[in-house]
Amino acid sequence: EHAIAWKLSQSSQVQQIFCTPGNGGTATQAKCQNIPISVTDFPALKQLIDDQNISLVVVGPEVPLALGITDYLQQPNLKIFGPTKAGAILEASKSWAKDFMSEANIPTAKSATFTKAETAKEYITEIPIVIKADGLAAGKGVTVATTIEMAHNAIDDIFQGDFDKKNQSVVIEEFLTGQEVSVLALTDGLTIRPLLPAQDHKQVGEGDTGPNTGGMGAYAPTPIITPELMASIQQQVLEPTLTNLQKRGIDYRGVIYAGLMISPTGEPKVLEFNCRFGDPETQPILSLLETPLEELLLACCEQRLAELPPIKWRPGVAVCVVLASGGYPGDYEKGKIISGIEKAEANGATIFHAGTKFQAENLITDGGRVLGVTAVGSNFTEAKTKAYAAVNSVQFEGMYYRRDIGSRVLMN
Ligand code: AMP
Ligand code: GLY
Repeated sequence: EHAIAWKLSQSSQVQQIFCTPGNGGTATQAKCQNIPISVTDFPALKQLIDDQNISLVVVGPEVPLALGITDYLQQPNLKIFGPTKAGAILEASKSWAKDFMSEANIPTAKSATFTKAETAKEYITEIPIVIKADGLAAGKGVTVATTIEMAHNAIDDIFQGDFDKKNQSVVIEEFLTGQEVSVLALTDGLTIRPLLPAQDHKQVGEGDTGPNTGGMGAYAPTPIITPELMASIQQQVLEPTLTNLQKRGIDYRGVIYAGLMISPTGEPKVLEFNCRFGDPETQPILSLLETPLEELLLACCEQRLAELPPIKWRPGVAVCVVLASGGYPGDYEKGKIISGIEKAEANGATIFHAGTKFQAENLITDGGRVLGVTAVGSNFTEAKTKAYAAVNSVQFEGMYYRRDIGSRVLMN
């Protein structure tokens, strides 16, 4: 959300930005004002829109989309970037997404859905295997099980744990190998256009080890996606997704984020869809975007995406390193004082905030992922070196980050 607000604030067409509830980054961002309203308090958001005469709403996270914020806020002369509840289910239910993909012949891992732990367990005969909670889980609902016991425990967690209780199903999926890529695309419901392809490091540990997180770092564009591969992703994944949404009568205006596994022989398969910008992928992607962001968002809302000239990108590469609270994605402490941001920015990086807030005069940690240190360079080595030089200036107690963001590219 900070990256979106940062990019919007650069445009002369954008007068003022209200961030609800915002964070320590949007608190000091030019043209931005934080308003302490929760993203799920729809009546209060509606009131704010009326009081402030707001013309464009950009919905950042998946939870309000899945709850139907776009449907709730509909009113004449208000543009809302983000799908309706009917479209957001693409992310909110993995079993729905699997049925959708199978109907549209979109390449994806083989899978089966179960509503009972016992039958789910009986299905598992080989490992590795992937166990997915059906509903939203903030990037923490998926286990890649390397033993049968681990798979069984993951299933028990889903049925007995604290996942979305209304949606107690589990998707069990074939384990795919290859490189993961995030292709975020903009759609107005009629046309779909990809942004620069990005790669995200999902796992908490260096060398891509340990449990999955929301993402520990990202870069764009990834050289793994050649123009030919992007053309086949457009043809095999993005176009059929849009066509099938249309067939189902879903008017989708927002981001379709395809999380893909690219096999060693270069075949893309969809791991998941998200109905919003990705974090941290959006930090490097928007760092390279030259077309004013609000032009793209408004074109999506007004169904004029096909009329826009090609999206303009700054040449080069952007790398984002996430600074997290020690312990994340497990338990971690909040409230640690953050220092060194100005120095880091003086080193040529942009620091996007996630879990931060101001308490009195101090900027403090307020979440698992705290900051996204992002730098642009003419090539990978330059962008990575700049990002890590800036990381070295930032400090807070328990700060954790991976030192190998971008290593997959440099190794290749
Ligand atoms: P998802 O939320 O479905 O994208 O899953 C979260 C993460 O789990 C993905 O980003 C992958 O790292 C991993 N994952 C999910 N599905 C598979 C699969 N079928 N094979 C291998 N890894 C997977
Ligand atoms: N980086 C993964 C996500 O935004 O879901």
